[in-house]
Amino acid sequence: MPESSVTSLRRGFKTRQIPESCSLIIFGATGDLTHRKLIPALYNLSLNNELPEILRIIGFARRDKTDQSWQEELEKSNSKNSRSGHDSKAWNKFATSFSYHRGDLNDPESYKTLSEHLDKIESEKDVNHNRLFYLSTAPQFFPVVLENLKAAGLNNANTNAWSRIIIEKPFGSDLKSAQDLNQAVNETFSETDTYRIDHYLGKETAQNIMVLRFANSIFEPLWRSRFIDHVQITCAEHLGMEGGRGGYYDKAGATRDMVQNHLLQLLSLIAMEPPTDLSADSVRDEKVKVLRTIRKMNAKQVTENVVRAQYEDGSIDGEPVKAYRKEDRVDPESMTESYVAMRLYIDNWRWEGTPFYIRMGKRLPKKTTEISLHLKSPPNVLFQKLPSAGESNILTIRIQPDEGMSVLMLSKKPGTSLKIEPVKMNFHYWSSFEKGSPEAYERLLIDAMIGDATLFARRDEVENAWVFIDSIEEAWHESQEKTPMAEYPAGSWGPKEADHLLAEMDHEWRTL
Ligand SMILES: NC(=O)c1ccc[n+]([C@@H]2O[C@H](COP(=O)([O-])OP(=O)(O)OC[C@H]3O[C@@H](n4cnc5c(N)ncnc54)[C@H](OP(=O)(O)O)[C@@H]3O)[C@@H](O)[C@H]2O)c1
Repeated sequence: MPESSVTSLRRGFKTRQIPESCSLIIFGATGDLTHRKLIPALYNLSLNNELPEILRIIGFARRDKTDQSWQEELEKSNSKNSRSGHDSKAWNKFATSFSYHRGDLNDPESYKTLSEHLDKIESEKDVNHNRLFYLSTAPQFFPVVLENLKAAGLNNANTNAWSRIIIEKPFGSDLKSAQDLNQAVNETFSETDTYRIDHYLGKETAQNIMVLRFANSIFEPLWRSRFIDHVQITCAEHLGMEGGRGGYYDKAGATRDMVQNHLLQLLSLIAMEPPTDLSADSVRDEKVKVLRTIRKMNAKQVTENVVRAQYEDGSIDGEPVKAYRKEDRVDPESMTESYVAMRLYIDNWRWEGTPFYIRMGKRLPKKTTEISLHLKSPPNVLFQKLPSAGESNILTIRIQPDEGMSVLMLSKKPGTSLKIEPVKMNFHYWSSFEKGSPEAYERLLIDAMIGDATLFARRDEVENAWVFIDSIEEAWHESQEKTPMAEYPAGSWGPKEADHLLAEMDHEWRTL
C-alpha cells in the first residue's frame, strides 16, 4: 500500500484521488444498465472533473452500430437519466472517447479483435494500458466472458498497468454456483482485481452507516443487545414484473434477488464490529464475520422464522394490478416468493438474543428502503403507560429514496398535566448538504478505477451470504406443503403471517 494511503487510513478518512488514465470496456453496451445507469454515472463524474485525464469508453455488443450511432443513442438516454440534467456541450466533450466494438460474447475471435482495437486506441494517445472490464450482461455469460478474456490474454496487464473486472449481480443462484463462478473469476483475475458490484454499498446512506456508528460517541455505546430490543430492515418496492422481468424473477424470487446481496450487506454494516482501519480488507473482514455468525436454520426453524408470500390482485396508486402468478413470463403455478419476511439472530457477543427482522416485497404501497433500531424501554418506575419496549426510542436510517435519519424519543407535551408523546428529530440529506448525493454507480465506478474495493463484495462475503440463504431455500424446496405460500393483496404491506411473526415477540413492523 502506498504510504500516502496508509497515512490517510490512520487519520480515519480516505482522501479522494483522480484515477490514472484507463480504458473502460463495457460488455452489454446496448443494454438497459449501460443506458440508464453506467453512462449517466460517468457523465456526472465528468461534470465534476472526477474522471481520469484520459478515459476511453469501449462498448461491446452484437448489434450493428458505429461509434457515432452508439454515442447518439447514449446521449438520448443520458438526457433522460442523468441526475444533473444534460448539457450538449459538456456531453460532446465527455463523449469524444467513445468507441463501439461489435462482437459476440461467445466468440473467441471477438476478443482478439477487441484486443487489437484496445492496442490501437491506447497507442494513439501513447498512454498506459490500464483496463477495466465491466460485465453488464446476463449472468449466464459471466463464465464464457472470463474464459475468452483469458484466452485472448486480456486479463494480464502490461508491466506498470492494471487489468480489473467489475461483475454485476446476480453473483450465483446458490452457494455452489457462486463458488464455481468465484473459481472461474479467480482463475482469470486476482481477488484484488475483482470488483463484485452491490450497488447498495455505493449509496451515500449505506456508506454513512459506518460514519454514524464509529464517528459519533452518542450511538456506539448503545449499539448492542443490552440496549437494542430489535432491528428491522425493510426494502419495499411498488413495481411488479414490468419489462419482461418475470422470466428472471420467477427463477430467483425476493430472497435470492434482494436479501442475499443488498439486505445482508446492510445487515452486516449495521451489526459489524469496528474495523481496525478503513482499508478494504479490514472493513470486509468485519462484515464477513457477521455473515458467518448468522444462525443457520433447519427446516422447522425456517417454518417458524421465515414467511414467504406472493401478491394477489390489488391496486397501486388507484390503478388495478394483477396477481404475481398472472404476470407475464411467470409460471401460473409458481412457488416463487415476491415477498419474504424473516427473523434472524446473530450469534456473537454483541448481538446475543436480539432479533433482526428483514422484509422485502414487490407491489407494496411505495418504494422505500430503511433500517430501524428499536431501543429497549427504560425502567418503568416513574412514568405510567410508556410505550412497550422497542416503540419509544427508535433510530431510523432511510437508505432511499428520502435519504436521511431520524430519532424518535418521548417528550412531555406542553401543558399543566404530565402527558408524554413521541417526537421526532429528523435529518434529510437534501436539506443539510448543498450537494445532491451522487448515484451509487458514480462512487463505485470511480473506486474501481482507483483500485479501492471497500464497497465491493469479497469472495467470502458472497459465499457466506449464500450459505445462510441456501438453508432457507433448501427448506422451502424440500417441504413445499409445510412452508406454505402466504398471500397479500398488491398495494398492501404484505401478508398477515408476517405481522404474526413480529407479534409473537410483542413487536410490530414499522409503518413506513
Ligand atoms: N438494468 C438494471 O437496472 C440492472 C440493475 C442491477 C443489475 N443489473 C444486471 O446487469 C446486467 C445487465 O442487465 P441489463 O438490464 O442491462 O440487460 P439487457 O438490457 O438485457 O442487456 C444485455 C446486453 O448484453 C448484450 N448481449 C446479449 N447477448 C450477447 C452476446 N451473445 N454477445 C454480445 N453481447 C450480448 C446485449 O446486446 P446485443 O443484444 O446488442 O448483443 C445487451 O447490450 C445483468 O446481469 C443484470 O442482472 C441490471
